Amino acid sequence: MSFGRLAVLVAAGGLLSGAFLAFHYAPTFEAARDATAHVETLPLGRLLRSLHHWSGAFALVLAGLHGALVFARGGHRTEGRRLWVLGCLLFLVLTGFAYTGYLLPGDERALAGIRVMEGVAASTPLAGDAAAGAVRGGDAISSATLTRLYAVHAVVLPAALVLLVALFVGSWRRLCTAPPRPLLIPGAATLAALLLAALLFPPALGPKADLLGEAPPDARPEWFFLWVNELLHRVPGSTFLVAAVLPSLLVALAIGLPFCSRGRRGPEIAVALAVVLGIGGLTAASLARAPERPPEPPAPADTPAPDVPRIMERFQCARCHRIDGKESADDMGPPINRIAAPDRPAVKDLFTREYFRRKVGDPRKYWEGTSMNYTPIRLKPTPAELLALEAWFYGE
Ligand code: HEC
Repeated sequence: MSFGRLAVLVAAGGLLSGAFLAFHYAPTFEAARDATAHVETLPLGRLLRSLHHWSGAFALVLAGLHGALVFARGGHRTEGRRLWVLGCLLFLVLTGFAYTGYLLPGDERALAGIRVMEGVAASTPLAGDAAAGAVRGGDAISSATLTRLYAVHAVVLPAALVLLVALFVGSWRRLCTAPPRPLLIPGAATLAALLLAALLFPPALGPKADLLGEAPPDARPEWFFLWVNELLHRVPGSTFLVAAVLPSLLVALAIGLPFCSRGRRGPEIAVALAVVLGIGGLTAASLARAPERPPEPPAPADTPAPDVPRIMERFQCARCHRIDGKESADDMGPPINRIAAPDRPAVKDLFTREYFRRKVGDPRKYWEGTSMNYTPIRLKPTPAELLALEAWFYGE
């Protein structure tokens, strides 16, 4: 079979549908999710988005099958190292497409995925902060993070794909003596299957991500990283080893294969089978494990709304602020009011709720130099406390 050429065909389709999506996309958290939703309202937009999604998965599977067949017939020994290494790099590029593509819609699931990526980067020994900062493009996950992912997905990876395919085809031509088998029938069958998948299973689009909110509890990565997720779940506290070292080792093993493969084939086949079975088994285990359910929201009767004066006491808001005109010990912050006062309007007339939530939710994250954090307890109310404060200041 010509799985390799079919993978290239599907990937080319992915570039075309991607170009269509790029016309409508904006890489910011304010706009990305709505832009994605907007595409679905355009003529054929929903289908093109679905085709784009599925062409990533198809190309990955076809390329994987191709690699497996080449390995099975010992092609990594007989067909030249160069071709094998280029093939591995192509597979990596396809994985990169699928991975970054899943983060771009800017919905809740994407944000959860970005947070996992940030966590993995932050787990790097010694250079964790720098790595996480490089992934985020700043001190916190923001639209700058999406912009980076978009640049990788829509500029770096397509360029790498085109370059690698050109090199690959060049090497392959030199090696290939027989004319390639015609692609018409398998090509048409693949495209038909792709179309069917795209029509039957369009990708979901979740609610808009809330940069300050909690991650949805059942967030899972895409299918090709489920095994990593499962391993992380089973071996807690090993993020860097499991999510960074192990995949890199597997990649190095695959790329290095033709350089150390000689003699009997038994051992290398055993290792390959063990890797495939391990990944397959972990993926199955992850699928079988029921998603962690969010804790049941307790009945409204026995959850008293967080008590605002108590929250303020805990964070000593009144030590720095005159609140509704009351005395303040240090009086170092601006007066903040629930009710309009002669010297200062009410909070609700001064700030948007978004600003309030960001400022009071985690002042340090919002502004490194804030003096709102010199008290011994770090000012970081829980989401419920923040909601209560907001409701109080906005007079609800
Ligand atoms: C350690 C002193 C301190 C504490 C405690 C404190 N604040 Fe502040 N707050 C400030 C200062 C100073 C500012 C001015 C800007 C800055 O430094 O961030 C500020 C700014 C604000 C602002 C924005 C006002 C503006 O004009 O920009 C709000 C709203 C606010 N605080 C609410 C609160 C609430 C609610 C609490 C308690 C949960 C609280 N603060 C606790 C010192 C404090």
